[in-house]
Amino acid sequence: MSDQLFKVTIDNITVEVAPGTSILQAARQIGGEVAPPAMCFYSKLKGSGGKCRTCLVEVSKGSEKDPRPMPKLVASCRTTVMDGMEVKNITSQRVIEARAGVVEFLLLNHPLDCPICDQAGECHLQDLGYEHGKAGTRYEFQRRTFHKVDLGDKIQLHMTRCILCYRCVFTADQLTDSREHGVLDRGDHAQIATFIEKNLDNEFIGNVIDVCPVGALTDKTFRFKNRVWFTKPVDAHRDCPTCCGEVQLWMRGDEVFRVTARKDEWGEITESSKGSTGWICNTCRFDKKHISDWTIEGPTKISRHSVISQGHYVNTVKPAETIERVMDGRKPRLFMDIHKVSEVNKPAIELSLINGPATSDTFNANKND
Ligand code: SF4
Ligand code: FES
Repeated sequence: MSDQLFKVTIDNITVEVAPGTSILQAARQIGGEVAPPAMCFYSKLKGSGGKCRTCLVEVSKGSEKDPRPMPKLVASCRTTVMDGMEVKNITSQRVIEARAGVVEFLLLNHPLDCPICDQAGECHLQDLGYEHGKAGTRYEFQRRTFHKVDLGDKIQLHMTRCILCYRCVFTADQLTDSREHGVLDRGDHAQIATFIEKNLDNEFIGNVIDVCPVGALTDKTFRFKNRVWFTKPVDAHRDCPTCCGEVQLWMRGDEVFRVTARKDEWGEITESSKGSTGWICNTCRFDKKHISDWTIEGPTKISRHSVISQGHYVNTVKPAETIERVMDGRKPRLFMDIHKVSEVNKPAIELSLINGPATSDTFNANKND
C-alpha cells in the first residue's frame, strides 16, 4: 500500500520504495546513471555488499523527521532509505571525486592486462575505470603478484585481478553444501584461496565465474579461445535434471564457445522461468558445447552500449559498395574461402571443443588429416 512506502529522492528524481530497501536498490528502480556502480553487492547473495566502496553516495537530507545531512559519504548498497531522504549520486562532486579515488585504489595492484584477459568486454572493473577512473596512475611501487591457481579442472584463479569483493565466497557458501574457499590473510596479503589446495568440487561451483565482476575467475573451457565481442549470445534451454537449464550460449558460427547463466542489466544472474535465481550446473556450463544439446530461443538482447553488441547485426543498413566504382569496374575479391588458399587452419578442428587455447600443436598434430 502506498502509505507504507518511503519517498526517496535521488539525483532530483523521486521514487517510492518499501521500507528496508537500500539506496542502491531504490536508485536501480530509477535506472540509468542514477544507479551507482556496484562491484561487490549482488542482490542474489545474502550478506554481499559493503566491501568495495564504489557505490558511495552523498545523503544531503537524512529524512523528513531528521533532515540533517549525513556527514560522510555512505555505501548505498548497505544504507537503507528513510522517508523523505534526499541522495546525490552523479549530481555530487564529492561522490565523483571519491569514486575516482576508489577506482585508483582498486587498480593499485591490478595488472591492467585487459588485452589478454578473457573478461575484457564484459568486465565491470573495465567499465568502472572507463567511466569513473582517472587516466593516469600515481602508483610507483612494484605490483602485488600471485601464481595462477587451478580451482578444480574447469576454473582458473588469477589472483592479480581479484578485487576481494567476496561474491565468489558467498556463492560457494550459499549454493553448495560446504564452504570450500575463502579469503585468507589480511590487508596487502589477502587472497582468495582453497585452503591446502582443496579443489572446488561441486556441481554448482561454476557460478563463481558468473558472479566475479572481473577476470579473476575464468572458465578453462573458454580461456583464450575468443574475444567475447566476436561471439554472439543466444538464449537457449535444455531439460536439465540438476538446474533450471536456462542459459546463454556464446556462439561463433555454429560453434558453442561458452555457456553462461543469463544476466540482467546490472550484470546479475536473472530469475529463471520457475521463479528462482537462474544458477546453472557445471554439466550445462562446461559439458554441453554442442548446438544439438540445446533448444535455441533466439538472440539475447544486448545493450547497444556494450561492446558485445558490435557483433549483433540487427536492422543494419549496409553502406553502398564503392570498391567497384573506384576500381574502374573491377570486382573486389574480398570474400574467399580461406581454406582454398591456405592450409594453415584445418576446418575440421573445432576450436570450441579442443582442450584449452589453440596452439601450433593443435594443427600440427593433425597434419595428416
Ligand atoms: S575472485 Fe572475483 S568474485 Fe572472488 S573475490 Fe575476487 S573479484 Fe570477487
Ligand atoms: S557495491 Fe556497495 S560497497 Fe561494493
